[in-house]
Amino acid sequence: MKDKGSYYITTPIYYVNDSPHIGHAYTTLACDVIARFKRLDGFKVKFLTGTDEHGQKVEKSAKAARIEPQLFTDQVSNNFRELAVNMNFSHDDFIRTTERRHKVACKDMWNKLVDVGDIYLGSYSGWYSVRDEAFFSEDELIIDDKRGKRTAPTGAEVEWLEEPSYFFKLSRWQERLLLFYDENPEFIMPNSRRNEVVSFVKSGLHDLSVSRTSFKWGVPIPDNNEHIMYVWLDALTNYITAVGYPDRNAAEYLEFWPADIHMVGKDILRFHAVYWPAFLMAAGLEVPKRIFAHGWWTNEGEKISRSLGNVIDPMELVNTYGLDQVRYFRLREVPFGNDGDFSTAAMIARMNGELANDFGNLSQRVLKMINKNCNKQVPEPSLKNDEDNNFLRNLDSLIHKVREAIDNQAFHVALEETWMVIRTANHYIDKQAPWTLKDENPKRMNTVLYILAETIRQLALIMQPFVPDSASKMLDQVGDDATKRTFDQCGVNGRLIAGTKLPNPVGIFPRYVDNEKN
Ligand code: ME8
Ligand code: MG
Repeated sequence: MKDKGSYYITTPIYYVNDSPHIGHAYTTLACDVIARFKRLDGFKVKFLTGTDEHGQKVEKSAKAARIEPQLFTDQVSNNFRELAVNMNFSHDDFIRTTERRHKVACKDMWNKLVDVGDIYLGSYSGWYSVRDEAFFSEDELIIDDKRGKRTAPTGAEVEWLEEPSYFFKLSRWQERLLLFYDENPEFIMPNSRRNEVVSFVKSGLHDLSVSRTSFKWGVPIPDNNEHIMYVWLDALTNYITAVGYPDRNAAEYLEFWPADIHMVGKDILRFHAVYWPAFLMAAGLEVPKRIFAHGWWTNEGEKISRSLGNVIDPMELVNTYGLDQVRYFRLREVPFGNDGDFSTAAMIARMNGELANDFGNLSQRVLKMINKNCNKQVPEPSLKNDEDNNFLRNLDSLIHKVREAIDNQAFHVALEETWMVIRTANHYIDKQAPWTLKDENPKRMNTVLYILAETIRQLALIMQPFVPDSASKMLDQVGDDATKRTFDQCGVNGRLIAGTKLPNPVGIFPRYVDNEKN
């Protein structure tokens, strides 16, 4: 297939003080679908994920578990690695911030910021939220009227800090950032989030405290071991560590930096859209092309939290509904960028209504008819009538619509476009009624079934990034060449070949039946 260039996509690296839940799985799933799509579309892809292992929060969690922080992070990092395998994520690299390659990158980054005069020693006094690993100004805090207790806007506890600290001259970058947002209107997506960031920066940037002395678990500052690096400066740097930084002539650095997209949840947008580009600009490095901030998931309408006890283990969902069903549901249920709610009813409705009924039945009906009436092979069509050719033309244009949607991170649009074709195919089969053609006009039946089998082929081809295992089984069932399943096979290039032997059809998208209710 034609090489279309390189594509670098990243997830946030996950804090190891928590075990994986459906929030984490969501960010990575979105990246996985884009990464798979881009590979099938002819790009050389690097898809990075990993774990964020330093900071006060992790040190506290390790202490509470009564083990050394390194051992603690080894264990939890492994849970994230396992989740990625179980969710069928196709990452190319898994980075841990406790790796040597990363500490080397952090130190180099720090030295660059020092060299340009953007780091100075001062002392910090102010509010800090360990849970968010973030500083807050007094006017950002929420004050409990009764007790006078302060919390961060995220609801997390804050503590008063007073310690010597190095600062990054963030204030110096305010105008440059605003100019950059202006010149790159698609840098922050969706647009509503972009507006939030712009108004935050316009309201005035303060210099940022970038080192800590009151705990030890972090990357030591070069030339001053009393300080460790602020965990966000350390964590953000992972995106360039993974492509070989500080070696800016490393093959991967040249090929993949700047990243095409950093996918993040809306809660960590400020770090990615304000601090990160400022650090990079100061260090004389290129800025990533896009930061996309997705929404927040709730469980049956409630905020997900350990204290409420309603955290959903992604593997529990997979065991109940099936992996591809869960992957499909999460990207179909909510317009990507908006907040989403997990509910059992919605999950089952999508699984049964769309996967089992719309898509599954279409393929079962067609493949069973071919199996019974066409000698178990792809039938020979005679493609002469306008209705058939229009139908195929519409089908062949699906990939273009889906590609555009994926380039806008609009998964719901990609799936909606796909389902329009599925619905059209279900109308076509009802209208053409191949079961009556069987005796009246077998030649016509062959044409109709060929067109429908070809439809199933292209639908499954395009659905591969979303439901990889099911799509590949479906492609096997229509006799599609397993060595040619890239997107250049959409349209006429990849048409099914009449006479190809087909296996006996088996259902691919089962219905969910609640055994306890029956
Ligand atoms: O923030 N719904 O890591 P993290 C949707 N280490 N997304 C959710 C969610 C929910 N209920 N809960 C969490 C960090 N997420 C830093 C990143 S990157 C240089 C450092 C998402 O483990 C959240 O939005 O707290 C974020 O994108 C991701 O999980 C990681 O969260
Ligand atoms: Mg978080």
